[in-house]
Amino acid sequence: MRGLTFQGPRKVRLEPLPFPEVTHPGDVIVEVTHTAICGSDLHVYRGDETGLDPGTILGHEFVGRVVETGSEVQSFRSGDIVVSPFSTCCGQCPLCREGIPSRCDHGQLFGWVEKGRGLQGAQAGCVRVPMADTTLVAVPEDLAHEEALLAGDVLSTGCFGAEMAGAAPGRTIAVLGCGPVGLASIIGARERGAHQVLALDSIDERLALAERFGATPIQVADAPKRQVLDRTDGRGAHSVIEAVGTASASRAAVEIVRTGGTLASVGVHNEANFGFAPGALYDKNLTYRTGRCPARRYIEELFGILRSKTYPLGELISHRMPLHDGVRAYEMFDQKIDGCTKVVLQP
Ligand SMILES: NC(=O)c1ccc[n+]([C@@H]2O[C@H](COP(=O)([O-])OP(=O)(O)OC[C@H]3O[C@@H](n4cnc5c(N)ncnc54)[C@H](O)[C@@H]3O)[C@@H](O)[C@H]2O)c1
Ligand SMILES: [Zn+2]
Ligand SMILES: [Zn+2]
Repeated sequence: MRGLTFQGPRKVRLEPLPFPEVTHPGDVIVEVTHTAICGSDLHVYRGDETGLDPGTILGHEFVGRVVETGSEVQSFRSGDIVVSPFSTCCGQCPLCREGIPSRCDHGQLFGWVEKGRGLQGAQAGCVRVPMADTTLVAVPEDLAHEEALLAGDVLSTGCFGAEMAGAAPGRTIAVLGCGPVGLASIIGARERGAHQVLALDSIDERLALAERFGATPIQVADAPKRQVLDRTDGRGAHSVIEAVGTASASRAAVEIVRTGGTLASVGVHNEANFGFAPGALYDKNLTYRTGRCPARRYIEELFGILRSKTYPLGELISHRMPLHDGVRAYEMFDQKIDGCTKVVLQP
């Protein structure tokens, strides 16, 4: 099989690789039909997040067909179509039972191998899935693979952001960053009945997409704080979902949230310190919430949202390419070439 491996900052290579094997009775091997590049892959690609071993197969978003099962696997058989959250989970440890499967005592992140330990990624012909019974979810027949793929990370992270933000009727939620995760956060906020969703970005095409998802677009180059205040009786948003992952975005979030509000950060931050002073939170009585999305918890409920066809999710995926064009796909997504918002690769 072939797969995309990390070789160093801005160096991704398409390589011939051995097929993964069942190494534990709870493993499943999935033949990948669709895999996507995530904003989280860009942190590694750009060299902002370090520690990944060169040679690691990238990727944590995938849908595929089960082709082999370990002797203890009970819920899946060869031929089943499955979607995976971006990390594995045992379903039994205290953290899994408390609703944080993304921090499972035995969990691993797909596409993260550090100092020889970890789990290979899914931007390849096949991927090994440990603890398959508690990690994977069967994709219902009436859902397209591409739609199900979004449930494993992007859409679940949007729901997580909206949950942390306390999105609810009567509340204005500002979404900072209109990449796939920000767009999914708009969905999460609307599904929870938010009164108004304001979406902020600098890229006009993404703002247009945000509007199609039901948000009011705000261009950050154009006095964003003033625009937010104008739409919130001069007070600011009840909560801000920050879906960027930079210090400047954190500071912008503090600016546009109202006193007593919540900052829900789903962006992955690699800075050494918070982008704002502790006093900035104190002075507005703010709550700061963040973390790796417990994606496994949301997948089934998202199938219902996908079926409803309420949102133009097909438009969230700007590019569909064969896996063998993956190196180019990384360049396009990194540099936002040709209006690139999300790339789905087909091995
Ligand atoms: N918490 C989790 O479990 C989880 C899961 C998936 C992704 N993520 C993270 O979510 C973030 C977004 O992912 P994505 O795939 O949408 O990435 P992306 O890079 O496609 O989107 C980021 C968007 O933010 C915009 N932006 C940059 N600076 C801004 C600013 N100051 N104000 C407003 N907008 C700004 C960019 O123009 C871009 O449209 C990443 O940091 C990713 O790692 C976290
Ligand atoms: Zn991701
Ligand atoms: Zn667990």
